Amino acid sequence: MPGYPVLPEGIAYGGDYNPEQWPEEVWREDVRLMREAGVNLVTVGVFNWGLIEPVEGEYDFSRLDRILDLLHSGGVLADLATPTSSPPAWFRRRYPASRLVDGENRVLAGGTRHSFCPSSPDYAAAAERVAGALASRYAGHPALAMWHVHNEYGWANQHCYCPVSAEAFRAWLRDRYGEVGALNAAWGATFWGLTYGSFDEVEPPTVAPPGALTALRLDWTRFSVDAHIANFRRERAAIRGFSDLPVTTNFMIPNCKEMDYWRWAPEVDVVANDHYLDAARAEPHIELAMAADLTRSVAGGRPWMLMEHSAGAVNWQPRNLAKRPGEMRRNSLAHVARGSDSVLFFQWRASRYGAEKFHSAMLPHAGTDSAVWRDVVALGADLRRLSGVRGARVEAEVALLWDWESYWALELEWRPSADLRFRERIEAFYEALWREHVTVDFVHPSADLSAYRLVVAPSSYLLTEASAKNLHRHVEAGGHLLVSYFSGIVDGDDTIHPGPHPGALREVLGLSVEEFHPLPEGGSVGVLPPGAAPRTGRIWSERVRLGAATGLWTFADGPDAGWPAVTRNDLGAGTAWYVATALDPVGGGGGLRRLLAEVLDHAGVARPRDLPATVEVVRRGDFVFLVNHGDDAVSVPGITGTSVLDGAVCEGAATVAAGDVTVVRV
Ligand code: GAL
Repeated sequence: MPGYPVLPEGIAYGGDYNPEQWPEEVWREDVRLMREAGVNLVTVGVFNWGLIEPVEGEYDFSRLDRILDLLHSGGVLADLATPTSSPPAWFRRRYPASRLVDGENRVLAGGTRHSFCPSSPDYAAAAERVAGALASRYAGHPALAMWHVHNEYGWANQHCYCPVSAEAFRAWLRDRYGEVGALNAAWGATFWGLTYGSFDEVEPPTVAPPGALTALRLDWTRFSVDAHIANFRRERAAIRGFSDLPVTTNFMIPNCKEMDYWRWAPEVDVVANDHYLDAARAEPHIELAMAADLTRSVAGGRPWMLMEHSAGAVNWQPRNLAKRPGEMRRNSLAHVARGSDSVLFFQWRASRYGAEKFHSAMLPHAGTDSAVWRDVVALGADLRRLSGVRGARVEAEVALLWDWESYWALELEWRPSADLRFRERIEAFYEALWREHVTVDFVHPSADLSAYRLVVAPSSYLLTEASAKNLHRHVEAGGHLLVSYFSGIVDGDDTIHPGPHPGALREVLGLSVEEFHPLPEGGSVGVLPPGAAPRTGRIWSERVRLGAATGLWTFADGPDAGWPAVTRNDLGAGTAWYVATALDPVGGGGGLRRLLAEVLDHAGVARPRDLPATVEVVRRGDFVFLVNHGDDAVSVPGITGTSVLDGAVCEGAATVAAGDVTVVRV
């Protein structure tokens, strides 16, 4: 496998470049302006299939030749994409069986990207051919730095329910289970007498009366992930026939629920991610930080690439807010702080046509006399000063469990409460840790946990016996574990672990749950920490029966008044904590922050104290990044070194102005 991308020196800077939308005289201006902004890498050809293969089997590379030559003459490297997320019109007409069918059995129209069936052999063959043709033509081109296969696998066609997909699903099930009895056992199909006599009787989970087998839905999602991965592998192999340069594809972490990126990560030579701010959030940069930490974790802690984000507004949210002054810079540098070795945008130049004409760009419709352009040029200069950051790693002492399978399973139908949402609890814990200035990794529950003082399980509804043992070993060996309610309930087939809840975690937590008492919509309960003011719990209450564990906080009212709300179990050399309601990081007295502070202290997790919760503090290698999202300047104690962006010397403290970013080499 090739090593780290043959990228430009330092941090890669640039974005998606779509010159085919412009006359050639504009291209020359593009390259001149790229140089002015310090752009050194652009993604080319992402949606070019209809242009480079206008007729099946007949290629026209003349335009792409000129573009790559021009980039090379300007000293800009290319991340060359295979165009297979947007098949040409001729493909759809020639291969009607490859059309995408949704869960209501509707054949979806073309005239847009991603309108194809991921299990189509016709699609697979055509995509492999065009990827091979590109690779054979450009493998030795001097502008080429890396390969970008496809674009955002599963963006709009995670699942296809056509007859070809149904057959592929049955083949996948045969492979997984061998004989249909094993499938019936795994799916618990005696329930409602839903047993299958042969694999041929299995249908994809299209719209159905309520109560379809949940394990069927889980396997369907696993199957769809595999279908997309198979497509990636095929194109990667076609490229490998000609080129040893790194191959990647752009992920959508964490906003594509249906892709299991733990499964994807080993397929790519470098993890690349696209992230867009959710403008409807009050503090969207917290979700950005989470996305970046999860991406780094998916990359196994290695540096990763921010493949797309936006210079300003996007075009696809209900209200597309422009970024506030300094926000694009804070966003970009927060990604770098959390492990990205690139800052790339969708897109270089704002487009005049089609669906994305109102999407921001590095070079906006307003041109170079604009705040966005000036910010883009200034960011290029910042990134040159930060070139020493490249390759450095972020270390974390705390890990949050994240398992896409648990995400899918938790949100299937007929759970104890509609308010049980995977992201809701993960984000609550993430936010509380972010406000405590604690950098976290995310881990799969089966991962090696030995590097972490504290492992937190905010939402581990699905947890296999093996993963539960992994958590048990972590605690026995001296680690700390904090588990939130409705975790450890089912195994990998969505079957309840035997005995009282939480079956997989009873022993490590030293307790059992007699009955769930989910709260009515909008309801809350009081929770009492010892010797402190009451806090508020939402969503959930339950009857916790103590075994080896000790009760710490108590429900003050509600269905479990007087019963434990927070418990602690000392086991071996470590401690396992449990919280039986939804404490909030900020609202309801900030109970979650209080609990976390106690657990972090107990686990000996070092963190800066007495800083406003609006300052982001991240250490990457020898660099400390301070991102001030607040309205006041802040002095951060305990930092001695040189401020990389302005050369200032910090003796024992670093200052970061309101809305600004300071990076200190310590
Ligand atoms: C991404 C996609 C880009 C562009 C962008 C707009 O999902 O990869 O091609 O559409 O969104 O925000």
